[in-house]
Amino acid sequence: MKKLSVVVAVARDNAIGRNSDLLCHLPADLRHFKNLTSGHTVVMGRRTFDSLPKGALPNRRNIVITRNPAFSAPGTETAASIEALPGMIAPDETVFVIGGEQIYRQLLPLATELCLTRIEASFPDADTFFPVFDENEWEETWREAHEPDEKNAYPYTFLIYRRK
Ligand SMILES: NC(=O)c1ccc[n+]([C@@H]2O[C@H](COP(=O)([O-])OP(=O)(O)OC[C@H]3O[C@@H](n4cnc5c(N)ncnc54)[C@H](OP(=O)(O)O)[C@@H]3O)[C@@H](O)[C@H]2O)c1
Repeated sequence: MKKLSVVVAVARDNAIGRNSDLLCHLPADLRHFKNLTSGHTVVMGRRTFDSLPKGALPNRRNIVITRNPAFSAPGTETAASIEALPGMIAPDETVFVIGGEQIYRQLLPLATELCLTRIEASFPDADTFFPVFDENEWEETWREAHEPDEKNAYPYTFLIYRRK
């Protein structure tokens, strides 16, 4: 594998989801996510896959992690475990881990890059969270802050970290 990168949008308190869905609709972040991941491989948990409105993400190799051997969905491949992943990935492949909480918890320790969108908003009814990570282990390599606008209701900052 060329690179293992984690992509996530976190609100305050590391919240990432509620009721099997995202916390808010931020079109600028969806565009950023598409720019980062297009042409590459995305790895996600089965619940995150189920939350995608149109199924497999286009122009990307979609790998869904599930313990259900009967799972199948158009445009996806399945991995039965985290341990099965390395054997599925070619040496020149860039892999983006795109959630959710269960998968972030298992794969963040292996990632060398973290593409984080910080959303400046609180969602007290959030039910899924990004793991707390030690910022001392990561070097910030890029950041871009944005104010809210007519399409994006909250301030947000794009950050990229490389593992030290
Ligand atoms: N803010 C963001 O950037 C962001 C990104 C992605 C997702 N989310 C949110 O996160 C929430 C979903 O997160 P989640 O933690 O509930 O679910 P998840 O991590 O997306 O998926 C969990 C599922 O993955 C499978 N799985 C997990 N570990 C496995 C292992 N070691 N081996 C085999 N299969 C494994 C299991 O599928 P089976 O049950 O099929 O066996 C499990 O039920 C949603 O609200 C979603 O909107 C937010």
